[in-house]
Amino acid sequence: MERLPGFRDFYPEPLPHVDVWSADARQYVFDTWRAVAARYGFREYDGPPIEPLELYTTKSGAEIVGQLYNFTDKGGRPVSLRPEMTPTLARMAAAHERNYKKPVKWFAIPQLFRYERQQKGRLREHCQFNADIVGESDVAADAELLALLIDTLLAFGLTAQDFVIRLSSRKAWHDFFHQRCPDSSKDYEFFQIIDKLEREAPEESARKLAALGFAYPEVEEFIKAGAPTPELQVILQNLAARGLESFVRVDYGVIRGLAYYTGVVFEAFDARGEFRAIAGGGRYDNLVKLISGNKVDMPALGFGMGDVVLLELLKARGRLPAFAPAVAVYCLIEEEALRAASLGLVQRLRAAGLSVEYPLTPLKPDKQFKRALELKAGHTVRVDRGETGLQVRARNLATRADRVAPLESAAALLAPGPR
Ligand code: HAM
Repeated sequence: MERLPGFRDFYPEPLPHVDVWSADARQYVFDTWRAVAARYGFREYDGPPIEPLELYTTKSGAEIVGQLYNFTDKGGRPVSLRPEMTPTLARMAAAHERNYKKPVKWFAIPQLFRYERQQKGRLREHCQFNADIVGESDVAADAELLALLIDTLLAFGLTAQDFVIRLSSRKAWHDFFHQRCPDSSKDYEFFQIIDKLEREAPEESARKLAALGFAYPEVEEFIKAGAPTPELQVILQNLAARGLESFVRVDYGVIRGLAYYTGVVFEAFDARGEFRAIAGGGRYDNLVKLISGNKVDMPALGFGMGDVVLLELLKARGRLPAFAPAVAVYCLIEEEALRAASLGLVQRLRAAGLSVEYPLTPLKPDKQFKRALELKAGHTVRVDRGETGLQVRARNLATRADRVAPLESAAALLAPGPR
């Protein structure tokens, strides 16, 4: 039975085939995301992987709606697997906003599902680091979020040579649009054309722009000038104070496809332009109000960083650490009569927090030792018959030094200490 197209199998390393993904690498990515989020004071939340279909059909925009994994559940409810986390976050923040001090700084690592056309960097399932700030309208929050995005990429060992944040503003595009077109109902249509400029043939974009009364060259000129709005200038100064300004470039070629963005928007790309976007986000000051049916009105902003492009990039730039199975201790059982005592020892060591392996069934001593080496064990232990009864003999596999102790003190024997 084959797995569905666009989905992934994650195996522990060493990987058995080129067509599978590394569970160890994914865990490393999650651990790094969590560590950086903690440094910035973000708290972890989660929500349901299935939501009412309506949560997405009214708020996210046509592109994502076309990619929904939706169905009717057995209770007759129209539902969908979550294609993104932001509507869930908006729903959750609105439901209990009184219980939290503003601004709320939350992160999540959801698995998301989009029925996309499969291509490099785009699958039908991915995991996404979401970091969002709710309840702060000052651009200081936008700068804080951008700093978190930059520090997250730096935490993987990437450098200014590896990635760039393209910083833009829906407000700038909004003003551009309204200076030339009074019909507000057409602005999202216009934003969609801008969003696709880099992926579509220029003639096609020019045709669509002309239909809305815009000339392609004036759009090109606006992007090329890239004059930062006062808001973007404050953000750039804030990032400069942290020494992070070199990672960011004002670039109105970015506008974001999702419908709900209202202000600053940005995307992270690899500097050589070989991959799809690593991350994207921005400010969405009206979404909480929309989703709560006008009950709660809070500004919000955030970004999502997917694991697919990130892992491809880290692999291509040689930034992934080597992953190999490893245990702290291998318990040798060379005499079956001592198996019961050995199991007691294994249990004692595991209770002390050590990772311990041992042969489940009788195995030749040389094979056991080979297995200890394969598992990169720091120590082997074995139950020995001493003069006064059973004891534990531990061998440091690096120094080959042996130490002996009563069974009760086995854990202390292996505690890291002076060599
Ligand atoms: P998004 O741009 O749709 O934004 O996705 C964010 C990132 O998730 C992308 O830059 C990409 O790395 C990854 N990604 C998206 N779709 C796929 C896919 N089909 N396969 C692999 N990776 C993918 C959002 O989802 C917003 N909700 C982010 C956000 C949070 N905005 C505010 N807060």
